[in-house]
Amino acid sequence: ESLEPHVFVIFGATGDLARRKLFPGLFRLTRSGMLPGEFRIIGSGRHSPGTDEEFRDRLAESVRKFSGDFDDRAWDEFAKHISFQTSSAENGIELAHAVEAAQKELGGARKLLYLSVPPGSMQPMVRMLGETGLAEDARLILEKPFGRDLESSRTLNAELHKVFDEERLFRIDHFLGKESVQNILALRFANGLFEPVWNRQHISYVQIDVPEEIGIEGRAAFMESTGTFRDMVSTHLFQLLGFLALEPPVHVDADSLRTEKRKLFQAVRPLDPARVVYGQYVGYRDEEGVDDQSTAETFVALEVWVDNWRWKGVPFYLRTGKALAQSRRTITLGFQEPPLKMFDAADGFDGAPNELVFELTDDPKLTIDLRAKRPGPSLRLDHAELHLRFSEAFVNAEPLEAYERLLLDVLRDDQTLFTSAEEVERLWELCTPVLENPPDVLPYWRGGWGPEAAVKLAGERGWRVPEK
Ligand code: BG6
Repeated sequence: ESLEPHVFVIFGATGDLARRKLFPGLFRLTRSGMLPGEFRIIGSGRHSPGTDEEFRDRLAESVRKFSGDFDDRAWDEFAKHISFQTSSAENGIELAHAVEAAQKELGGARKLLYLSVPPGSMQPMVRMLGETGLAEDARLILEKPFGRDLESSRTLNAELHKVFDEERLFRIDHFLGKESVQNILALRFANGLFEPVWNRQHISYVQIDVPEEIGIEGRAAFMESTGTFRDMVSTHLFQLLGFLALEPPVHVDADSLRTEKRKLFQAVRPLDPARVVYGQYVGYRDEEGVDDQSTAETFVALEVWVDNWRWKGVPFYLRTGKALAQSRRTITLGFQEPPLKMFDAADGFDGAPNELVFELTDDPKLTIDLRAKRPGPSLRLDHAELHLRFSEAFVNAEPLEAYERLLLDVLRDDQTLFTSAEEVERLWELCTPVLENPPDVLPYWRGGWGPEAAVKLAGERGWRVPEK
């Protein structure tokens, strides 16, 4: 399919996301011929990074570092289309002119605006987009957090809707752009094997576990104002829960998926602060830019219940945090025991349930944890694992990085993997009890698994990660 000419405007163009993901992603998309043939990219921000030349040179460095297959000639060709124009909530006129000029130069072009700015600037920037005409006929991509509680998300949505129709808004949750996350839908709905057992009759617990080894990596201001609960739980972790738990959609398209996600989140019980554990790693308060009395949480573990027919009584355990022992994105579904106990400890039966495990890493993997007969003269049991490694199953396939995939979807006007205003508000509503009455922040050691209370939260079976 050929896409019409585009002018991309990236707000926050000298920021971390732009450097690590957006420019490398756009570069890779051009290289694989997936961007429109004709385009301009205008980077923007409050402060000028110097001349366009200097801006491009800085970008070249980042793209070289983050995009894998850098090539000077391809870069030069791509970089010709990039320029920089300062802007702020108070002043967007020059940027608006620059965009208009670029549109003219291309003989008419669609506008795609990417707002990657600190949470506090979001609303004033949206207003500016409206006032300067930049918003006209444009699509807008937004980065989370979408507000910081129910009330502010409602205000933000109302402000957005004054300037953009919902169809032109693309709220990014980059986890949904991950190949491995979309695979949850493929596995659930394209295989007769899984769907019949995907319910409370067969599944006894679910874990959504996203520990991270990294600390805050210079993002002190962000962590201090946002915290891990708002950064990760009300966003990525709930979105994973959404894909795992939703009812089969009528079709796999934006409307049907959104309908099912809406129904699902309606059925999620508002969180109980008594079943939420907050942690902060020891040493966090010494990080540069962090208040020495800070109570920001760098770790969260919690229990979630879905009160519908499919999931009634099945606990969902969610966990994520910084400075932990391993970086993982692991989803585990634990199955019920067989109805009769034919084996016991003497046979090597340890009572551990079967588990279906998604590893949502860049090299995604699916594991089924089974019990099987250990070869030998008697019927003794042991654990055995069935593995599917997607990079082996699909040799030579070229996975897209999450942001690449999502940028492409915006260009195709496909909102399937984006979150709606209503959904965002419902998620904040579910979180309200915790935001209003947050649990104490418990200290934990770097390189461990968070506070002891979080280890206990998952019950007798404990967390699957790390595997014993
Ligand atoms: C971001 C969060 O959205 O996701 C970060 O703001 C987090 O705190 C990151 O580290 C994790 O994303 P990924 O794709 O690296 O797993």
